[in-house]
Amino acid sequence: MKFFIDTANLAQIQEANELGILDGVTTNPSLMAKEGIKGHDAVMNHYKTICEIVDGDISAEVISTTFNEMIEEGKKLADIHPNIVVKVPMIKDGVKAIKWFTDNGIKTNCTLVFSAGQAILAAKAGATYVSPFIGRIDDANWDGVELIAQIAHIYSVQGFKTEILAASIRSALHIVKCAEAGADVCTCPLDSILGLLKHPLTDIGLAKFLEDAKKTLG
Ligand code: E4P
Repeated sequence: MKFFIDTANLAQIQEANELGILDGVTTNPSLMAKEGIKGHDAVMNHYKTICEIVDGDISAEVISTTFNEMIEEGKKLADIHPNIVVKVPMIKDGVKAIKWFTDNGIKTNCTLVFSAGQAILAAKAGATYVSPFIGRIDDANWDGVELIAQIAHIYSVQGFKTEILAASIRSALHIVKCAEAGADVCTCPLDSILGLLKHPLTDIGLAKFLEDAKKTLG
């Protein structure tokens, strides 16, 4: 399973990258706004900087919602760097745009996916990645991980090549459950990635080993 970090914060991207286990980055307009990035040029430069930090797929989201506009916007995003993946919302024109990008060799991430039916459409259009938002599904009292398992089953039965990118991750446990359910990628906040490190028995065990090491060293 690949690990992406879900942020536009450069310090966090750098920290996750230095762990040596990072395969890519996802961003969205809300995450860009959170970092105070304002204006078209600033946004484009920010994507370029992220591409320079991480050698992996970097999702950059279109903010237009009609086919022609999404194509124009997506082409400009894809021109920033060969690792850019154009993130397109799961709407009717978005499906058409994903098909166009696929036919023209541009990678896509179909975002805002909340059902198996939407995931089937994304795969039919040839999306590189499909992003079910599992945390937001849990927030609405459905089971986000269950959706990952359902999509994984359908893609396996049908032979779809689209990679399942579990998004809207809220915890380290979500990452483990998504791995179990068959996600190809998890895009996570830094806290959730670092949460995987934690176990009290590791801390207790290490403290004991270090204490005993002092005895052997005299
Ligand atoms: C996916 O690519 C989105 O950026 C993200 O995972 C949304 O997560 P949220 O529900 O925490 O906003």
